[in-house]
Amino acid sequence: MANEFLIVPATAEMLPEILRLEEACFSAPWTRKMLEAELTGNQFAHFLVAMEQEGTEASSGTVVGYHCFWIVFEELRLMNLAVSESMRRRGIGRALVTEALHMGLAQVATRAVLEVRASNKAASTLYQRMGFVQISTRPKYYTNPVEDAVLMEMEPLVLNSGARHDRIPVAGGGSIPAY
Ligand SMILES: CC(C)(COP(=O)(O)OP(=O)(O)OC[C@H]1O[C@@H](n2cnc3c(N)ncnc32)[C@H](O)[C@@H]1OP(=O)(O)O)[C@@H](O)C(=O)NCCC(=O)NCCS
Repeated sequence: MANEFLIVPATAEMLPEILRLEEACFSAPWTRKMLEAELTGNQFAHFLVAMEQEGTEASSGTVVGYHCFWIVFEELRLMNLAVSESMRRRGIGRALVTEALHMGLAQVATRAVLEVRASNKAASTLYQRMGFVQISTRPKYYTNPVEDAVLMEMEPLVLNSGARHDRIPVAGGGSIPAY
């Protein structure tokens, strides 16, 4: 079965694969300790992975994307999102963000925020397409290389409609609505 994806909560066993993805995708990657802290030691953090399915078990497969986000009372904060280079432009990033919006709405979050490197057109286009708008910049926020952050917001928090991609199922039921 090729290119069947499933979104599931991340587990500690997936950390090595998530770390590999993180290191491949970012010039200043989170460390294993940082990832571990988000996965196991932060009451506000949620951690989802997109798996390329290799069998019938929900947990069998390769991690091809991940998304770490916080739900802090009324605010959803998108913290880190990455999709394996060879798996991009198939709707996985969008599906991971959509699931975070679903979970935020379920916990009555009313606003979503994120920061993105000013040069990161792929990510900022994705977020814009999902309804985020730029509200300010944070000069020299990032290191390696030093770069401004663009702060984006969605308020009120809503799910974008309109069809585009195939649905990507979420473990436990449902699927990511296309846009
Ligand atoms: C940003 C990222 C997560 C997007 O993941 P993805 O799975 O390729 O995104 P999707 O396929 O869901 O794309 C959804 C939409 O986003 C926009 N988009 C995604 N990649 C794009 C690119 N390279 N250029 C322009 N628009 C892009 C498009 O509108 C796309 O819809 P389309 O394919 O129908 O045109 C991925 O490029 C990535 O991992 N980049 C490196 C890590 C990173 O920058 N993370 C974000 C940190 S804030």
